[in-house]
Amino acid sequence: MSRLLTGFKPTGHMHLGNLLGAIRPIVARQDGNRTTVMIVDLHAMTVPHTPATLRELSMEVAGLLLASGVDASQFYLQSQVPEHTELHYLLECVTSYGEAHRMIQFKEKGGSGSRLALLTYPVLMAADILLHDTDEVPVGEDQLQHIELTRSVAQRFNNLYGTTFAVPKGVSPLFAARVMDLSDPARKMGKTGSTDTGSIRLLDEPEVIRRKVMRAVTDTLSTVHYDPAEQPGVSNLLSILAGCTGRTPGGLAGQFTTYGGLKEAVADAVVEVVRPIQERYAELDPGQVRKELAAGAEQAREVASVTVRRAKQAIGLVMG
Ligand code: AMP
Ligand code: TRP
Repeated sequence: MSRLLTGFKPTGHMHLGNLLGAIRPIVARQDGNRTTVMIVDLHAMTVPHTPATLRELSMEVAGLLLASGVDASQFYLQSQVPEHTELHYLLECVTSYGEAHRMIQFKEKGGSGSRLALLTYPVLMAADILLHDTDEVPVGEDQLQHIELTRSVAQRFNNLYGTTFAVPKGVSPLFAARVMDLSDPARKMGKTGSTDTGSIRLLDEPEVIRRKVMRAVTDTLSTVHYDPAEQPGVSNLLSILAGCTGRTPGGLAGQFTTYGGLKEAVADAVVEVVRPIQERYAELDPGQVRKELAAGAEQAREVASVTVRRAKQAIGLVMG
């Protein structure tokens, strides 16, 4: 049995990259493993935010995770488990300013006016992971750097203060680990920062999905090959199709002679994948979702409190 954990920020609407990069990979492994899936609402406050929107998006993300089949041993909102922030501080005491400053997240969005929490964001993420004695963290490719930091911090803490944390590893899917924006294949599909036309939201109507896929940027080469460097748009479509169908992008490429044919197949596959998610989402009762989250948080605290206690003792705090 492995311990798997992953998290989703309520900073925008959930999209196809979230589904293929992280949701489906963890759902596929929930049987027989201990899995933790969190809505990391504290991470959503590292950039300017609106309280009402944060609340709405937290519930939307929670609902979409449940509708996508998440049936984790632990499913909860990060802010309902105070041990995350408690461990965050302890880990800040073994992380250097330079390490935090080098992280891509800060390099891209940070500056002297940004929230201090944006700089320490990866340390909170390390706390999320280490709190649960996690072995594996299923994430999209963009998060692997943060998991490397988590490993360094865990190893350093263990070396300095005695073995306290399991050292986790990041795992990304073979294909669709970095789904790109359909209108701009140099840019990652994301909750923020990607174009409206280039990001497929899990709650987009089928016609909207079809329109976005049919308008996806390709190239003028007119051949269907999986070659991300030379044909980024076409390769992105092939990766999406591979992520939806479980086939390989290279194998799929041989089946298409035109970009129109490839796009039709991608649109059909994506609509098929999101249809059951949208149906389940429409049936959810928000009151029930809240209850499930609260129960998950309570259960998570049982594990989390033991880890924090162990870390406090190791680092030299007097235990009550
Ligand atoms: P976020 O939307 O930043 O909260 O990301 C939640 C999870 O989805 C993380 O594991 C990300 O790596 C993954 N993810 C986000 N965008 C993409 C993408 N475009 N392709 C693949 N995985 C992604
Ligand atoms: N930083 C992740 C992202 O932007 C979200 C996240 C926070 C996370 N804590 C985590 C992912 C723990 C995996 C494990 O997508």
